[in-house]
Amino acid sequence: MEAVKDKIESLRREIESLNYSYYVLSKPEISDFEFDKKLKELEALEAGHPEYFDPNSPTQRVGSDLNKNFVQVEHVYPMLSLSNTYSEGEIRDFYDRTKKSLNEDFDLVCELKYDGTSIALTYENGVLVRAVTRGDGVRGDDVTANVRTIKTIPLKLQGSDYSPQFEIRGEILMPWKVFDDLNKERAEAEEPLFANPRNAASGTLKLQNPAIVASRKLDSYLYYLLGENLPSDGHYENLQKAKSWGFKISGAMKKCSTLEEVFEFINYWDKERRNLPVATDGIVLKVNSARQQLNLGWTAKSPRWAIAYKFQAERAETRLNSVDFQVGRTGNVTPVANLEPVLLSGTIVKRASLHNADIIRNFDVHIGDMCFVEKGGEIIPKIVGVNKEARFLIGLKVEFIKNCPACGTKLVREEGEAAYYCPNHFGCEPQIKGMIEHFVGRKAMYINIGEETVSQFYKAGLIKNAADLYTIKAEDIMKLERWAEKSAGNFVESVRNSLQVPYERALYALGIRYVGETVAKRLAYAFHNIDDLMNSNYEQLVAVDEIGEVIAKSIIDHFSIESNRVLVERLKTYGVRFALDEAVLAEKTDLLNGLTFVISGTFLLHSRDEYKALIEKNGGKNSGSVSAKTDYILAGENMGPAKLEKARKLGIKIISEEEFLKMI
Ligand code: IVH
Repeated sequence: MEAVKDKIESLRREIESLNYSYYVLSKPEISDFEFDKKLKELEALEAGHPEYFDPNSPTQRVGSDLNKNFVQVEHVYPMLSLSNTYSEGEIRDFYDRTKKSLNEDFDLVCELKYDGTSIALTYENGVLVRAVTRGDGVRGDDVTANVRTIKTIPLKLQGSDYSPQFEIRGEILMPWKVFDDLNKERAEAEEPLFANPRNAASGTLKLQNPAIVASRKLDSYLYYLLGENLPSDGHYENLQKAKSWGFKISGAMKKCSTLEEVFEFINYWDKERRNLPVATDGIVLKVNSARQQLNLGWTAKSPRWAIAYKFQAERAETRLNSVDFQVGRTGNVTPVANLEPVLLSGTIVKRASLHNADIIRNFDVHIGDMCFVEKGGEIIPKIVGVNKEARFLIGLKVEFIKNCPACGTKLVREEGEAAYYCPNHFGCEPQIKGMIEHFVGRKAMYINIGEETVSQFYKAGLIKNAADLYTIKAEDIMKLERWAEKSAGNFVESVRNSLQVPYERALYALGIRYVGETVAKRLAYAFHNIDDLMNSNYEQLVAVDEIGEVIAKSIIDHFSIESNRVLVERLKTYGVRFALDEAVLAEKTDLLNGLTFVISGTFLLHSRDEYKALIEKNGGKNSGSVSAKTDYILAGENMGPAKLEKARKLGIKIISEEEFLKMI
């Protein structure tokens, strides 16, 4: 008996900790499947042993995403979750249960289960008045200002046949394409990547700055209408009405009267969902009639009239051969599993992320273990669990290293962060090489060498930091393997050419954490030379458009280190440009301050890039898509018809090349 109690308690602790990682840190540690399995195991144990009931058990609540920076609002109707299943058998059980309970015919609506973050929208007299997150199901965060920026959510409804007050619920999503682009940008700026579009969407919704939310291009699907005086008794019919009011309602929806139709829908979408622009993780089945829904009722956690069938994420099982610890350019250490090669969604996987020290400990993973690997929405495959049942011989336990694998320095961990890093930034080989590789990159100084050459020069003792590149002579490298007079000459010339690279790119080349291309540009325009930037204080930095607390702190930290300042001074003496070009400065005006332009079509007098630069030089902003925020469209020949139509609708001024040039 004691053993059961211990098991229940250990499961409760584990699930609470997983919930925290998922909801508070937005960093899921295991797959939904694994999580649901644990929760179900706990539910079963608790059901069999009511003597161990605890109102604070994780089975007694739905997860919370409350955030102290938002005003909390009580939901008019509690926001419950859905009971989940992974098997067709359980769908049959659900169908039979429903049939027995209703004792009459019924229709089931099949829908896609969108994998984003849920939202409850309230409309009064056809106007959006409130948008609230799920929170703990009873109260959620008021994120109205952020939700207003989402283009597919109507601020005012179309038509007139809607009830004076109603709520509509749905999912806020970040499309795959937006997610990929965002992560690319974050990788470049060395910011932590979002694990999947769901976390990216919920993280975005919790930002304090609606302008950034707007730039993230969130999308939505609405799937549940609530309130009195709804148009119809049918859920399906209500959603079709909601579509006519301007809501984005999925077309992937079917009203079924037999189980065969339901399975047909599931099988079709299990494959076809891969072609959708947004993430889905299952199918939701709902009894169509509101009267019948009421009859079936709710449990404390979920409606009895609905169930979610979750798709199995593609996963494989394979052996763990060894673990490497890699040191990144900024010193962060990441554990990587070397696996017995295995086929997973069409590609051979040999390596997968083992996340961080906490997860290694939680998994209790040993060399030789059979591990589960998933590719889900993530960029790199990851280990999601260990198959302990398949463990016959127990190998060496995997432990996170204490010292840097490259230089031996004791690793450190910042408070509240999961990652360890090596603080020896100027003496640790992978960090030095990583820094130099970044410095010579195409978007930075554009010096014509790659990873291998950086390594070769480093080994030969020619470079210990980026400034050393400018001291290398052709004779020095001609002595090295694979180099001849011509190639050595080309290299030296490419180093010389890098002195033409403008200030903002040289700034980006320094590799300051969180200073990506765009941030570097903003900084260059705000601080016209690097001395002004190095001597700026926190207040001056955060006063710059789009520079927040984190970036400001990182810049101050970077230049508080003596070696970083010395590097800049040395680069200056070699002639690297660390000031805005006088000519650029002279041409800079405020003529277009506060104005946003969209460029469309082809031009005769200047190229598109030249027009973009002209807009920026004169204080204006460029944007890729037409929105209510666009002030002008600079239109050339053959402007896209969609843009034209949208511009007309929004009443945006369309100007020609000549008109634009007159403006400046
Ligand atoms: S209906 C009371 N329909 O899944 C029923 N939910 O695990 C309310 N979800 O919290 C939910 N797609 O965030 C419903 N077509 C869909 C859905 C859907 C995604 C999410 C929603 C809900 C969660 C439950």
